[in-house]
Amino acid sequence: MRTLTILGLESSCDDTAAAVLRQTGDARPEILSSVVMGQNDLHAAFGGVVPEIAARAHAERLDGCVIKALDQAGLSLREIDAVAVTAGPGLIGGVISGVMCAKGIALGAGLPLVGVNHLAGHALTPRLTDGAAYPYLMLLVSGGHCQFLIVRGADDFTRLGGTIDDAPGEAFDKTARLLGLPQPGGPSVELQAKQGDPARFRFPRPLLDRPGCDMSFSGLKTALLRARDGLIAEQGGLTRADRADLCAGFQAAMRDVLAEKTRRALALYRAEAPAQPMLAVAGGVAANLAIRGALETVCAEQGIGFTAPPLALCTDNAAMIAYAGLERFRSGHVDDMTLAARPRWPL
Ligand code: KG4
Ligand code: ZN
Repeated sequence: MRTLTILGLESSCDDTAAAVLRQTGDARPEILSSVVMGQNDLHAAFGGVVPEIAARAHAERLDGCVIKALDQAGLSLREIDAVAVTAGPGLIGGVISGVMCAKGIALGAGLPLVGVNHLAGHALTPRLTDGAAYPYLMLLVSGGHCQFLIVRGADDFTRLGGTIDDAPGEAFDKTARLLGLPQPGGPSVELQAKQGDPARFRFPRPLLDRPGCDMSFSGLKTALLRARDGLIAEQGGLTRADRADLCAGFQAAMRDVLAEKTRRALALYRAEAPAQPMLAVAGGVAANLAIRGALETVCAEQGIGFTAPPLALCTDNAAMIAYAGLERFRSGHVDDMTLAARPRWPL
């Protein structure tokens, strides 16, 4: 296999990112640079990502991001073999910004263009970081996504189930908001939960009574709201211990649901008799040590490998897009100037 150097672009949510990846033969690819420009400061006052603001920021920053990624890799466009770009799913203004930028580069420099599904980028990351062998089971748990996938190839995924309402990160963020804790909510809730008693509030474990791998987290958030309002009505406010106990109860419910649904997803996956069975988790929520620990335990019980890519590659970045583009390109996939930006693009 020849050496390939890929430029990747990502702009589907609130991170503008560019990265350069190189693979020599079939060795583990090397991330030559990975630049991520976040937009938290632009959206903080609005309590969530504002699509129009995000799109404008991407359009303004993409060029600079690409230049920085090439600089850090010590390369010029002449040394790049292909341009990979997130073509969906995501906030459409941002996706269009990225796709237009990639088309401009591809056209100007005469390079092949490869459109990448953002979710495939996340799902293929364990191959970039750990050389995971197909097929592996992937649990994607972030602020926007929650699903189990059997990953069989760069374009071959089977979705076993996922959330039917909120994503887990979203539920963590809402919980933090309800309790007056700082955003992003996941780390704040985890910190509080460490000091709390998970047994004081017994929150529901939604959909555990039903077969399958689908999940639901909106009822959990409502139960937390009710418990909070009950305490406020009774005592006129929340104590530090109340907050910690509410967080501990919430996190325990989330952990139990994810662990049990993972058991079920593993049963379906194992029926395929994979040679090197492995569960990979990715997404911001994979940073939660209580949840990660519970998933590791489930895997250890069943003799299944476990991996969670380093956080910088679990959250949105362009190295994962470059990698997914590399696999697609190696398998002969190239897009032309009709490549469309897609707000929805299920795997
Ligand atoms: O993958 P990510 O950076 O962005 C996307 O959603 O695409 O995930 C961000 C989410 C946020 O909702 C954040 O609260 C959550 O991941 N998160 C956590 C933790 N760290 C980040 N949730 C639970 N525990 C954590 N330690
Ligand atoms: Zn993402």
